[in-house]
Amino acid sequence: MEYREYRPGDETRLNDLYNEVFDRNRTIEEWKWEYLDTPEGQSKILVVDDGGEVIAHEAMIPMRFHVFDREFLGGKIEDAYIDRKHRGKKLFGPLTEYCLDSSEQSGYALTFGLTGRPVNYQLHISRGFRDICSLNAHLAVLEPASAASDAARALKLSPFKRVALRSVLGALSVWFKRKAKRYSQGTDPYPVERITRFDDRFDRLWQEFIQNRKIITIKRSSDFLNWRYIDNPYREYAVFAATDAGRIVGYLVAAVVTREDMHLESMIGVTSDFLVLPGYEAVLSSFLRRAVDFWRSEHADLLINWVHREGKYSHSLAKELKRCGFVSTFGRYDIPYFVRTLGDDIKDDAFYGVDNWHVTQAYGGAWV
Ligand SMILES: CC(C)(COP(=O)(O)OP(=O)(O)OC[C@H]1O[C@@H](n2cnc3c(N)ncnc32)[C@H](O)[C@@H]1OP(=O)(O)O)[C@@H](O)C(=O)NCCC(=O)NCCS
Repeated sequence: MEYREYRPGDETRLNDLYNEVFDRNRTIEEWKWEYLDTPEGQSKILVVDDGGEVIAHEAMIPMRFHVFDREFLGGKIEDAYIDRKHRGKKLFGPLTEYCLDSSEQSGYALTFGLTGRPVNYQLHISRGFRDICSLNAHLAVLEPASAASDAARALKLSPFKRVALRSVLGALSVWFKRKAKRYSQGTDPYPVERITRFDDRFDRLWQEFIQNRKIITIKRSSDFLNWRYIDNPYREYAVFAATDAGRIVGYLVAAVVTREDMHLESMIGVTSDFLVLPGYEAVLSSFLRRAVDFWRSEHADLLINWVHREGKYSHSLAKELKRCGFVSTFGRYDIPYFVRTLGDDIKDDAFYGVDNWHVTQAYGGAWV
């Protein structure tokens, strides 16, 4: 067995193996966008090669991070998978160590993870990641029937529990529709446009956002935002931006996602990303009204927004969601966010302070 870096030509086998393991239909173009064509260049792609056959994969996707007043190369470990025939041979641990070590040697200063599965939680902790915060799930129901049938199947509910769930979701749906109707009548404090590409006004927004503030987050350059949302081959995103005298003061990215790999039929409306200048939080209500219209027009059954409620740059969204009729799921379905430094470029203890982090779904998989 040889642990080695990706070589051109590996992609077909890597993609076939990925589709087999995760039961998806990813194309080579999608793979290329995600792993090769990022604004920070090619990902660190590592494989296990068994006599010329690639049998395992793990990669670090590069993203530029802003940490207080400095920038660092950071990355997200993505798509760890091993050919079924070769599982249980303890290849996984060494592959992750290899990924972390070689990323560190290539100048990555941090890596992060966002995962709701308990087994992955333990995995991150045992590999030296620190639990920074959780993204808290806020839920609204548009179509109770399809949401209930998905949940009943996924949770293997008894007929009695199915009926109970259906009536709970029905009540939530009535609640949301009533609140959202009232919410939709609000007026916009600033003009809002739906944009099709991030231009240099967004680079200026970013500069203004970080000026004299303690912030740790992925750098939202127009290059990153265009790659992540506009040129993303997996799905279309709706991007709303607010202006004050022509200058962008915030944006929000909404999407409708499907999870065929989890055999879910529901269409789920999500907020993928947002950034609002402190002092302009009122624009979140304008964004949310438009996002709800967008989710409805795209036939979303269920709306789930994961929000870092303790973050000083994101907690306002949680309040708006509540006003709009979303309900908190009280910790259930929250997604822990972990981070680990690589090398010793980042030493500041404040790096682990929860409220400086601006964490959104932008940190999730490329398809959310
Ligand atoms: C996850 C996966 C890569 C593990 O490989 P494996 O060959 O089954 O496991 P190994 O024999 O190499 O290592 C076993 C270790 O991995 C852990 N492990 C197994 N499956 C895991 C999973 N889905 N998530 C996290 N850890 C897992 C085991 O707890 C065990 O830990 P230990 O060594 O501390 O006892 C493999 O099962 C796989 O490809 N699964 C499908 C893809 C997937 O779910 N990837 C996401 C994982 S982050």
